[in-house]
Amino acid sequence: MPVLRAPGKNTGQRTAPPALSVRLSGGIALEAQADGNIAACFEEHSIGLGKFSSVTAKSAQELRTGLPLDRTADEEIDSLVRRLARRGLVEYSLGPGRDGNDLVVIEPQVPDYWPQTPKLANTETIVLSRFAYLRRRGNEMVLESPRAAALFRICDPGIAAALATLSKPRQIKKFRRQDGFPGKELLALLVDCQILFRIEAGAGNDLRAAEGDDNLVLWDFHDLLFHTHSTEGRQANPLGGLYPYAGMIPPPPAVRPRWPGKKIDLDKSAAPSQDLSPFVKLLHERHSTRDFDDRQPITLAELARFLEDTARIQSRWKSRLDGGGPMITYTTRPYPSGGSAYELELYLSVANCNGLARGFYHYDADRHALVPIGVRDHELNAQLMAAEFAMDAPGTPQILITIAARFDRISWKYSSIAYSLILKDVGVLLQTLYLMATEMGLGGCAIGSTNIDLFARMTGIEFHVEGPVGLFALGRGSKPEVAG
Ligand SMILES: Cc1cc2nc3c(=O)[nH]c(=O)nc-3n(C[C@H](O)[C@H](O)[C@H](O)COP(=O)(O)O)c2cc1C
Repeated sequence: MPVLRAPGKNTGQRTAPPALSVRLSGGIALEAQADGNIAACFEEHSIGLGKFSSVTAKSAQELRTGLPLDRTADEEIDSLVRRLARRGLVEYSLGPGRDGNDLVVIEPQVPDYWPQTPKLANTETIVLSRFAYLRRRGNEMVLESPRAAALFRICDPGIAAALATLSKPRQIKKFRRQDGFPGKELLALLVDCQILFRIEAGAGNDLRAAEGDDNLVLWDFHDLLFHTHSTEGRQANPLGGLYPYAGMIPPPPAVRPRWPGKKIDLDKSAAPSQDLSPFVKLLHERHSTRDFDDRQPITLAELARFLEDTARIQSRWKSRLDGGGPMITYTTRPYPSGGSAYELELYLSVANCNGLARGFYHYDADRHALVPIGVRDHELNAQLMAAEFAMDAPGTPQILITIAARFDRISWKYSSIAYSLILKDVGVLLQTLYLMATEMGLGGCAIGSTNIDLFARMTGIEFHVEGPVGLFALGRGSKPEVAG
């Protein structure tokens, strides 16, 4: 394992070289049971990890304080640690520093994170990613990036200062000579997490282009951070309706406190009452349906009509960018879209539809066709079960529509507002889907959380290229709906 030098002045004093170890995250304890099973316990939960030998059970106790990573070469220990890691129950420490404390603690953000130290040659040049940022969290400093599979708790301010000098590309050979050089192992861990990246010597000043593919070039920093931190899959923060401030701040009221001043009563000014128009009736009838009738599932014919009238491309047109720029192609569809970009794509997870096999499909809005995408059944299941959980429903939806965005289509044009435009477009499309479901006597429900990592695994598309930004559950409601 590469050796790490402690930050600080090169005094020539010999200190124990810092090393990487793995340990249980805060609040987790291991319980070895008499039958050889080991369980991870936290709060009132307990997760079984399987049967292990008594030797492994003894070594596992070292996970409380830190087990050197090279010790996990033992097959059983390795298997135990990887099981813990997949469930997000461990963190990794680089240390000790000269004061005997951690230098850096690595907190995984994705389930398959495992610290990797790619080889870095002294002749290589590295620089900080433009997506990397350092911030205070509680009374700690954390180094993060929406591209990173882990975050780094920086326990020694000297390391933060040394890393700050990587705002400009630096050759490792020269960086090593600097006081407080944080060590090659940490640099390699940061390269692995894309917080640092290598650049070709003489790549020029265009660091944005040097960092990744064209799809990454198009992302603004705040947009990628917003995307990864407001979805599941690439971050370990608690997410969803958890009422984190319920004990601290009283619930804000449903209706805004009134402004002072004399009101103009609109009821008194209303036109004489007329019969409600079909459209107004539809608006009033729209509601969320979470419970579906699996004895009479939605049919393929109904699905075809639903997609045709909500999402099918109606026409195509072109326009040249002002000043002799490139020709840009556009479409017209049944709902509005910022800049006529129509960056949203529909993917269907079909659990129960009469006439259509269970599976995962892309809706080709141009040809009005469904194209099957081969996915593993456990991934399809995971998606459908997550929707059931998010709706607190008695079963999975018959069809789960994932609204995915082709991010480049919007960010090629819009600076700073690209991601917010996408979310606004999602809102517009969700209401369109709701109204059409109501019109057809079907049921639907928007879902606010989505797993971008799961979608990436199902489609094989990298999370920054095309990914989920909204969900809609669809089917025949178990209570009869009033058709429009
Ligand atoms: C953006 C958005 C996200 C939503 N997310 C969820 C969700 O995750 N789970 C759920 O059960 N309902 C969800 N809903 C449905 C709302 O709870 C519902 O619209 C609201 O309670 C009003 O009820 P109604 O739709 O029946 O009129 C969501 C609605 C919207 C517009």
